[in-house]
Amino acid sequence: MKLLITGSNGFVAGSVIAQARKNWDVHGIARSVLPTTSPNSTYHQLDLLNTGKLTQLFLKLKPDVVIHAAALANIDFCQDNRSMAEAVNVSVTNTIAECCKSNNCKMVLCSTDTVFDGSKGNYNEDDLPNAVNYYAETKIKAEEIVLAASEKNSVARLSLVMGLPVIGKGNSFLAETIAKLKKGEPVKFPENETRTPIDVITAGAALTELAGTNFGGIIHLAGNTRITRFEMAKQIAHTMAFPEELIIGTDSNAIPGRAPRPNDASLNNSKAKSILKTPMLSLADGLTLTMNTKIAQQV
Ligand SMILES: NC(=O)c1ccc[n+]([C@@H]2O[C@H](COP(=O)([O-])OP(=O)(O)OC[C@H]3O[C@@H](n4cnc5c(N)ncnc54)[C@H](OP(=O)(O)O)[C@@H]3O)[C@@H](O)[C@H]2O)c1
Repeated sequence: MKLLITGSNGFVAGSVIAQARKNWDVHGIARSVLPTTSPNSTYHQLDLLNTGKLTQLFLKLKPDVVIHAAALANIDFCQDNRSMAEAVNVSVTNTIAECCKSNNCKMVLCSTDTVFDGSKGNYNEDDLPNAVNYYAETKIKAEEIVLAASEKNSVARLSLVMGLPVIGKGNSFLAETIAKLKKGEPVKFPENETRTPIDVITAGAALTELAGTNFGGIIHLAGNTRITRFEMAKQIAHTMAFPEELIIGTDSNAIPGRAPRPNDASLNNSKAKSILKTPMLSLADGLTLTMNTKIAQQV
């Protein structure tokens, strides 16, 4: 079975590729070439905004499943660069969904907990999204496109993804935090944002498993611990024997010039627990898993 994954240099995709290539013929699309060779996985260099080349590549590869992980995921960048965010997060998703539909190929979209407005928390898959920033608006549109294209498509809403990059660099707040704490520098984390962080290894395993199932519809991929980002960072610092005082609490919605963030975007993971074999973990267990995983060394 052939799996095509977009955003293959990214944080989440790196974990998927490292785990999926044990059982799948994995093809990744990246804007820049990976510096390392990767057994059992093939990389294709492509800007997804090039619709013609993307369609050609799709027809050449004929994947069985696509995991669409590429996105502009920087909330403030999306707020300030709306047409670019719309092009990458919505139009590219539409092109891929059309390619999948014409080729009877299942599509799994990586979406986000921040589709919710954060007024309630513990959101399940039946709760209605309500965007508080433009990034979330684009992800909601992308979700609608993917779900409308085929009943066998899935939308995996990821909670805050925590961990060290498995392949490549990726957008890892944990790696940045550890680097600062090692230098004795303070690190700011919002006290107003409650999340259910999922470790990157579990996220990658769950997405890989989802690609191989017949499940269609929305699923929340989230950890078992509901916690503010500030408390999460303090727990991480404590576990790694860094001074907790270096973690400074902020209010992300009181910082001028930044896009609004949902306060409590915690996700209910009951559906994932009932459908997937991949266990959803506590923050402590997820941290242990990501710190101890040596998959990267197999690259
Ligand atoms: N990380 C989280 O906490 C989190 C939480 C919820 C949802 N998600 C979702 O999960 C997915 C993966 O997130 P991530 O953290 O892995 O993000 P990431 O590390 O920023 O990776 C995204 C990748 O998309 C690629 N990309 C963007 N525009 C592209 C284009 N025009 N052509 C080709 N590639 C392009 C980027 O390539 P370049 O490296 O070349 O820019 C990047 O490697 C996203 O859909 C995000 O919305 C993430």
